[in-house]
Amino acid sequence: MPTDMNTPILQLKDIEIAYGQIQAVKGINLELYSGELVCLIGANGAGKTTTLNAIAGTLPIKSGALQFEGKNITAMPTHLRLRQGIALVPEGRGIFTRLTVEENLRMGAYTRNDKDGIEADLERVYTMLPRVKERLAQVAGTLSGGEQQMVAIGRALLSRPKLLLLDEPSMGLAPLVVEKIFEVVQAVVKEGMTILLVEQNANLALEFSGRGYVMDGGLITLSGNGDELLNDPKVRSAYLGDETA
Ligand SMILES: Nc1ncnc2c1ncn2[C@@H]1O[C@H](COP(=O)(O)OP(=O)(O)OP(=O)(O)O)[C@@H](O)[C@H]1O
Ligand SMILES: [Mg+2]
Repeated sequence: MPTDMNTPILQLKDIEIAYGQIQAVKGINLELYSGELVCLIGANGAGKTTTLNAIAGTLPIKSGALQFEGKNITAMPTHLRLRQGIALVPEGRGIFTRLTVEENLRMGAYTRNDKDGIEADLERVYTMLPRVKERLAQVAGTLSGGEQQMVAIGRALLSRPKLLLLDEPSMGLAPLVVEKIFEVVQAVVKEGMTILLVEQNANLALEFSGRGYVMDGGLITLSGNGDELLNDPKVRSAYLGDETA
């Protein structure tokens, strides 16, 4: 539930995003309040990744306004957004395949100079993700898919973000690994982090999220509490594979 109805940590106002002539996002509104876990679900090509990338700043916004902690960041470059506390774990993970696991994790902290804080956050990641700790010296490109996803999330946490953007963290992973990743997501939300989670696995995402948005064809077509959306007949038939709905 939103903790403060008046000041969203993130606000998208009439955001449009295009790839040349192709309009991928056609004017969406979305708000996240501090400490929320909110999911963005929808079919392939709906515009979810495009939206996350535009929030992180890796894609330009064509029109509309993006606000973070009340400040307009619509035109702010990616590295400054990271400094402000916005971290993205991209679709396909985006780890540095030639660097070791430890180097990858430390890269996440490159904007920081609080040495002790960085070491403490590394320890925290090792505690949450023991598999990562076992493989610190391994070249990241040789990790399994699940291990790479854990390193990508660990690296994002090392920037100590206020807002974590996760693009399909469960993609291609075995159920036990997915469970582990969702445990970490829940743990950091409990510590006060805000998360915007994009997931193909709508069932899983809605179960964990306080609220959700449904995207279709570049528009947000539905939004509501996680359990409201889980029980919504339109969501059930379109995204949860429920043919009786
Ligand atoms: N670089 C690009 N150039 C042109 N069109 C693009 C580009 N990237 C994405 N698109 C188009 O924008 C639309 C939205 O794509 P996006 O990747 O945001 O969808 P998505 O909701 O993340 O889908 P998925 O669930 O498959 O990851 C799609 O029609 C896609 O083909
Ligand atoms: Mg995507």
